[in-house]
This record gives sequence, C-alpha cells and structure tokens, in this order.
Amino acid sequence: MAKILVTGGLGFIGSHTVVELINAGHEAVIVDDLSNATMQALSGIEKITGKCPEFVRVDLKNKKEVQNFFSSHSDLDGIIHFAAFKAVGESVYKPLEYYENNLGSLVYILQEMRDLSLDNFIFSSSCTVYGQADELPITENSPVKSALSPYGNTKQVGEEIIKDAIEAHGFNAISLRYFNPIGAHPSAEIGESPLGVPLNLVPFVTQTAAGVRQQLSVFGNDYETRDGTNERDYIHVVDVAKAHVIAVERLLKRKNLTNYEFFNLGTGTGSTVLEVIQSFERVSGESLNYKIVERRRGDVTAAFADTTKANAELAWKTEKTLDDAMTDAWRWEKKIRNI
Ligand code: UD1
Repeated sequence: MAKILVTGGLGFIGSHTVVELINAGHEAVIVDDLSNATMQALSGIEKITGKCPEFVRVDLKNKKEVQNFFSSHSDLDGIIHFAAFKAVGESVYKPLEYYENNLGSLVYILQEMRDLSLDNFIFSSSCTVYGQADELPITENSPVKSALSPYGNTKQVGEEIIKDAIEAHGFNAISLRYFNPIGAHPSAEIGESPLGVPLNLVPFVTQTAAGVRQQLSVFGNDYETRDGTNERDYIHVVDVAKAHVIAVERLLKRKNLTNYEFFNLGTGTGSTVLEVIQSFERVSGESLNYKIVERRRGDVTAAFADTTKANAELAWKTEKTLDDAMTDAWRWEKKIRNI
C-alpha cells in the first residue's frame, strides 16, 4: 500500500482516480481548492469505496499554503497532479491566470518534492500538445507543435518544467497525455459537473437531453472526415483513472525505463461528433435536438491515439466503449437533475 497525493482530487478525473487508488489498496490524500469542484465528490468517493480519504483544502498557487501542506505530509510515496484550469477558450482571455495557476502550482510542488526528497510524479497532460498531428493515429513520438491556446501551452511548458527538474534533481515522472475523457462512474456517485455552460461535447449533449440546454450546436460538418464532423478519441474516465494507478505503481516499483516517460491515454479509435450523438441516442432512447453551425475556432480536424506504447509498457488498455461512456454520462446527468 502506498500513500498517494492527488491534487485536484475532487475534480472529474481526479475523483475517479482516487476511487481506483483506493480500490487497488492504496491510501489517497486529496488536495483541492474547490474552484471547480464540490465536497459532494468526497461523499461520492466514500459511497463507492466505503472509505473517506483525507481531504485538505489548499490553494496550490499560494506558495505558503503548499509549504504548510507538505510540512505535515512529508511521508508521501507518490503525487498525481491534476489540479489545473482546463477551459481552452477561457485561457485565451485569461492567459496570466492560467500560467499562474497551472505552472505556479507545478513549480511549488516540485520544489517541495526536491526539498523533502519525495519522488514519483504523475502529470496530467493532454493530446493538445500534438496540435493537428501530421500522421494519425498519434504516437508519443509525434512532434509537439506550437500550442493553439495558453491552456495548451501550460501543458507543454509543464512537461518541460518537469524535464528540467528531473535533470537537476533526479525525480522519476510520467506524463499522461489524455485524449478526450468522458463518462462518469457507473454508480453515478461521481461525474463531470461543469460550471456554467459546458464547453465540452458530452456534457453539452447530456444537458441538452436533460432540458438544461435547448439545442446542441455541432461545430462544422465540412471537415475531411467520414461524415464531415471532427473526429476525436473519446475515452471513459474510469479507464483513464485506472491508467494513473498503473503509472504510479510503475514508478513505485521502479519498472520505468527512463526517469521521464510519456504515454498517450486513448482508445485508439476516433469517433465523429455525429457518431457520439448517435451513440447517445442509442443508449438513452432520447432524440437529441442539434443543428450544424459554423466551425469553432481552434478545432483540429481529427485526433486519435496510437495506444501501442501504453498497451505494451503499462499493460493497460481501455475496457469500456463509447456506448458505456454515454450510458454512464447520461445516468449521472439524470441523477444530478433528478430526472
Ligand atoms: C479540448 C482540447 C483538449 C482539452 C479539452 C478539455 C484541443 C485541441 N483540445 O478538446 O486538449 O483537454 O478540450 O476541455 O485544444 N463540439 C461540438 N459542439 C459543442 C462542443 C463540442 O460540436 O457544443 C465538438 C468540437 O468541435 C469537437 C468535439 O466536439 O470536435 C470535442 O470537443 P471538446 O469536448 O470541446 O474537446 P476538444 O476540443 O477535442
């Protein structure tokens, strides 16, 4: 059993990862500033696992708070760092807040790791580092392209900061580059709760079906894909969470081949926006009100993962389908809307 810090542990991917850590017999300590999460996630975790992990409210962009937290938690075996702002569009209007939050917190945590001789760091990265890749599916060797948004840049620069820190201080780390995590826990005790109008496709789909939104806008159907709509690699959040447990255990057992590794987390299969809608309609029995509108600025035509490296080296592969994810997302939406 290991003691693992999960920053952003009440957020969407963080809360699911805490559940999988506990299921695997580990102890999770959650840090969150509740800027985009609620305490309900903690009770959801407890309902699913029967255990209530330690929770500490910390603003990770406040160096003093980070130091205080670590001074009473110097016995951590590993750190999974999710805490970050993640709205691509918002980052364009608030770049300095994004750099302060996403990079400030990272630097402060790495400084504490150095000072307390802690090790084993998992970084929440994104397929956004590849931009519009020249070749599909996207392998970990695809070049990192210049970022399309400040949010994307925080993931690229974050990976660079970790690389430099490793060279100077000898940590072991893994960056997990997620494609499009969706869905919810099958128990419907935890899920995605975007504040305000959702920017991501799946919460917009489920909110539209729930009557919270009137109509889904599909951003463009004139792309060079099989039906003209964008193609993405949608991966169930529980599969993403399980990969984090495997990655941190890999570091704990020193199975890593180099002290900084990168893995894509995707299913290996792309689905178009219309295929996501069809999947939703199939599993829910609802008919979705949507219309085709103009392209959204900054969208790449297609992005899906080559999962060979993660499958082989992590001995991990996705277990859940797009239909499973849409079923769970809909179950969660109905629960939080009392439908
Ligand atoms: C983006 C980022 C990704 C980031 C994620 C988190 C890029 C290239 N990708 O993913 O790195 O981690 O956001 O927020 O920056 N769509 C609609 N109607 C909607 C919403 C979305 O048609 O109302 C379409 C989009 O055009 C896109 C697909 O659905 O084709 C998925 O969009 P979204 O869920 O926002 O994710 P990405 O843009 O792929």
